Amino acid sequence: MKKALITGITGQDGSYLTEYLLELGYTVHGVVRRASSLNRERIESMIGNESIYGRTLFLHYGDLTDSSALNRILEKVQPDEVYNLAAQSHVGISFQMPEYTADVNALGVVRLLDALRDTGLAGKCRFYQAGTSEMFGSGAPPQNEDTPFLPRSPYAASKLCAHWMVVNCREAYGLHASNGILFNHESPRRGENFVTRKITLGAAAIKLGLSDSLVLGNLESGRDWGHARDYVKAMHAMLQQDSPGDYVVATGETHTVREFLDEAFGYLDLDWRNYVKTDQRFMRPTEVDFLRGDATKARRLLGWRPETRFDGLVREMVDADLELLSNTKRRI
Ligand code: NAP
Ligand code: GDD
Repeated sequence: MKKALITGITGQDGSYLTEYLLELGYTVHGVVRRASSLNRERIESMIGNESIYGRTLFLHYGDLTDSSALNRILEKVQPDEVYNLAAQSHVGISFQMPEYTADVNALGVVRLLDALRDTGLAGKCRFYQAGTSEMFGSGAPPQNEDTPFLPRSPYAASKLCAHWMVVNCREAYGLHASNGILFNHESPRRGENFVTRKITLGAAAIKLGLSDSLVLGNLESGRDWGHARDYVKAMHAMLQQDSPGDYVVATGETHTVREFLDEAFGYLDLDWRNYVKTDQRFMRPTEVDFLRGDATKARRLLGWRPETRFDGLVREMVDADLELLSNTKRRI
């Protein structure tokens, strides 16, 4: 039975990856941060299940800013695979917290890679780094593994540092370390301050009479949006290859924020133009205008393909938010 360690297990991707690895028969260990209130909603169904929690799923307190804790956890768990998903993952907020973003997203990876070497795991354990299409920034689409990186935010710059640290560890020490260059992926578990979830929650609230407007930023940017459930399978597949590598994971289809609004509000028979306002506070000092990924390499070498299409993704998210708000009557 293989053992995986996941940082960022409480996040969107961490929760889907945990479900997937447990289904495959893995034992999963997750790193969780201390917070004043517990933040385990996305993995609650698993930690509330006595046949899983404490048997095939374990949690450990740690933080990417705390190298001694990372060392202790690695020493104790002795994982076969490490998935580094933990990050300050909000691009907009990274402009307000560049130092913290770099500390977690860039130095955090340095700490983890060093810890793998210090604990003697570097030769035995495989490593996945959650890289991002944001690193392409203003690079011309369609973006693939050969597209130059032109980062446009502190978030993207921090992830680019992590990317090259992984490449260097691979080349210098032979570590089986791979960079996933994942394009945007969403789900009903997406954080509420990312644009897709903001829209599906906002549309559901308006439909239920719990809100009468939605305030957004730039409606013109284009993103290649897929489903997180599909994307975590590519992460796992990368670590099953004989050799490590870097892979773009994307659908190859781009939609603007405006088109996302069309799809979400249209599904509820609403015209978003009657409700959506824009405000400067949600605009970024530098924006990534257009992303479209070319995942040919992942298709060819990993056999990976996205299973969920854009309209299915949006509808699944809207349905989930309708249900959530109907049950809680939460005003947003
Ligand atoms: P997410 O929902 O924001 O989850 C981030 C996770 O990181 C959470 O579990 C969070 O813990 C944890 N975390 C944050 N700071 C930490 C720290 N200092 N120490 C330890 N854990 C920390 O992000 P996601 O959408 O699942 O994305 C997963 C990873 O993929 C991230 O690295 C992100 O940058 C990258 N990525 C995401 C996408 C996408 O479209 N979703 C695309 C490309 C790359 P709390 O729950 O305690 O906050
Ligand atoms: N968050 C947010 N909130 N974005 C808005 C809003 C708003 O109110 N209004 C418009 N947008 C625009 C942003 O300016 C951006 O162009 C686009 O919607 C998508 O924004 P986000 O949903 O915040 O995602 P992102 O593309 O910046 O970053 C996500 O994808 C990256 C992969 O490309 C995050 O998941 C990153 O962690 C990930 O690396």
